[in-house]
Amino acid sequence: MSTHIGAAPGDIAPLVLMPGDPLRARWIAETFLDDARCYTEVRGMYGYTGTWQGRRVSVQGSGMGQPSLAIYVNELFTDYDVQSVIRVGSCGALTETLAVRDIVIASGACTDSSMNRIRFEGLDYAPVADFGLLRAAYDASQSHRVSTSSTSGSVHVGLVFSNDSFYSPRPDLIARMAEYGVLAIEMEASALYTLAAQHGRKALAICTVSDHVVTGAETTAQEREQTFGAMVEIALEAGLGGS
Ligand code: HPA
Repeated sequence: MSTHIGAAPGDIAPLVLMPGDPLRARWIAETFLDDARCYTEVRGMYGYTGTWQGRRVSVQGSGMGQPSLAIYVNELFTDYDVQSVIRVGSCGALTETLAVRDIVIASGACTDSSMNRIRFEGLDYAPVADFGLLRAAYDASQSHRVSTSSTSGSVHVGLVFSNDSFYSPRPDLIARMAEYGVLAIEMEASALYTLAAQHGRKALAICTVSDHVVTGAETTAQEREQTFGAMVEIALEAGLGGS
């Protein structure tokens, strides 16, 4: 039983979908899973295990930011033998080639966090997605098997920026990241990819564009839910589709 998850061994499936918001974890379990059972309510960071198309899958909230996500992902890998984590989150678009409701599959993650600077004693590590999961997610997003994907926008594969401060003190530096091809900003992918590499596991971050940093466009709550649902189907298909 781990400190922050507190589930029994065997309670958690080898594949975990990970939204930042624990209420989204509950919504995913209630909307997409059969026989979903809540295995943790510690600190209100809900986790559920159920089945999707007959295959076992869990969904665990991460909280916001890399330090919070790292607590849950460390415990999933070391205490529950989780093999793959797919983050399903939201992001802010940084370039005009993206629109709200689009989906970004993060091939890699830049960051302003000091977590990896400490880990690598000042060297710059390049955290990247698992290619198999990335390819499966892209294929799922293009496939008719994902029934609701038509309700979402375009799918983009590329870099995200995992920032520590949602209310950034240096928006000019974020704009510079965009000049170097970074598509979107979010708060967790870099730590997720690094921890997966450390533990020899698989990870992917998929984010829906909830707001546009350049144009100021925002989504309504209903649009966010619809697009979020399409992304969850892509993640489930990517993680379980071929097995
Ligand atoms: N920053 C800016 N906008 C966002 C973010 C973020 O981290 N996540 C979702 N929209």
